[in-house]
Amino acid sequence: MLQSRDYYPENEFHGLRVAITGGTSGLGLALVREMLGRGAQVAFVARRREGVDRVVREHAGVHGIVGDVSKKDDIHPIAVQIVGLLGGLDVLINNASDLGTAPLALLADTECEELERALATNVLGPFRLTKALLGALASSAREGRGAVVLNVSSDAAINPYPRWGAYGASKAALHHMSRIWSEELTSAGIPVLSLDPGDMDTPLHAIAVPDADPAELKRPETAAREFADAIGKLLAFMRSERTLQKVVQ
Ligand SMILES: NC(=O)c1ccc[n+]([C@@H]2O[C@H](COP(=O)([O-])OP(=O)(O)OC[C@H]3O[C@@H](n4cnc5c(N)ncnc54)[C@H](OP(=O)(O)O)[C@@H]3O)[C@@H](O)[C@H]2O)c1
Repeated sequence: MLQSRDYYPENEFHGLRVAITGGTSGLGLALVREMLGRGAQVAFVARRREGVDRVVREHAGVHGIVGDVSKKDDIHPIAVQIVGLLGGLDVLINNASDLGTAPLALLADTECEELERALATNVLGPFRLTKALLGALASSAREGRGAVVLNVSSDAAINPYPRWGAYGASKAALHHMSRIWSEELTSAGIPVLSLDPGDMDTPLHAIAVPDADPAELKRPETAAREFADAIGKLLAFMRSERTLQKVVQ
């Protein structure tokens, strides 16, 4: 069983309060493990209770929340539980995602409801959850702990792949929204990242590209380590800037 402990003393993650959506599978689960391994306090969200219970059973100290980020009515209960369980929030990772169509389909064969589901999960969910947690993140930034939002993007946000219409359009919207959030929030001490993990061996990828060779795909653990390194560098930079400001004041 993994323990919520600090493998790297003096690191940026010790006691960091991290929330991850979609924490029961693929990249989200790898991020839960990576953050716990670095000494963070972690809360994660997923829709299916059995998956949430399994991850909680297997990882000491982690907080599991059952909720659907695509549903407006679930957002505030999710946000309240995150802040209550962690005692605040320093890092929000909007990772949960929906392909829209499974199997992938041409736009002409995509139902409106499928596009709506992709947009609700991949754009509206991160928008609403970020908005609901802004107060907690701003408070963390003011206290000098450092606050970061990471939205998980995709190369489908940039490249117009045929048959990836619902997913690609939603990821493009999320990517652009992240850039605007970043322009608006960085001055408040809350940078917003939008990062593409690359093609990974996960259940989502297996549904999207069933004939892909898993051996040629990136391990989600590798992407989780890269994302954690990016967050760690940003936190270290923000904390050193704050220290410098105090010295020159
Ligand atoms: N895999 C790739 O090659 C690849 C490439 C580029 C980008 N990405 C991005 O990487 C991220 C992770 O993808 P993945 O491949 O790891 O996916 P995954 O293995 O399918 O895992 C998805 C996770 O999200 C949860 N989830 C799905 N819909 C949700 C909702 N509406 N509310 C709350 N939780 C929800 C799932 O649990 P429940 O079903 O129980 O809710 C599960 O824990 C996504 O943003 C994806 O777009 C993946």
